[in-house]
Amino acid sequence: MTTPPGVERILFTEEQVAARIREVGREISQKYRGRDLKLIGVLKGAVFFLTELARAIEIPVKVDFLAISSFSGSVPGMVRIAKDLDDPIEDQDVLLVEDIVDTGFTTRFLLQTLAGRAPRSIGICTLLDRTVRRIVQVPVDFRCFEIPDRFVVGCGLDYKQLYRNLGYIAVMNPEKTS
Ligand code: IMP
Ligand code: MG
Repeated sequence: MTTPPGVERILFTEEQVAARIREVGREISQKYRGRDLKLIGVLKGAVFFLTELARAIEIPVKVDFLAISSFSGSVPGMVRIAKDLDDPIEDQDVLLVEDIVDTGFTTRFLLQTLAGRAPRSIGICTLLDRTVRRIVQVPVDFRCFEIPDRFVVGCGLDYKQLYRNLGYIAVMNPEKTS
């Protein structure tokens, strides 16, 4: 397979990613059967994962999205909501869908923000989990893959807004892009 410049090594193939998302979709269906589940995707990275996950879930779900932006150059974890959810989440079972939980700052901010809106429950589902870099602890309920301490792209994850559309997850070496 030809890979774009800078893409060093494929960690999980398209087939592995699809199979794992189907498994996690089944786990979520079992856990939330009979309840009102809303998937909340964080733009833009989680969109790719969320659509596949939603198709793998066998119970009715609603979806909504929010976008965040970080204050660049400032303290890590300083993020704000750039686009809010369309609808309230009060009394609903909410699953926050993330592309990656890395230091945990973004996820913790989102959890705290959403918790303030009185949902019935909040869970976290992430495509990738890089626990070796965690700084603040967050309760990850569903995770597709644990990854090593390397920068990755694909399946929604970008390098300078590129490579989100790769179907596989790969280690990226930015020094080799030019
Ligand atoms: P946090 O460090 O857990 O707050 O993660 C913040 C965000 O950094 C994630 O939602 C991603 O958008 C981005 N990010 C972290 N690691 C990677 C990576 O390896 N590739 C691409 N984006 C990443
Ligand atoms: Mg990003």
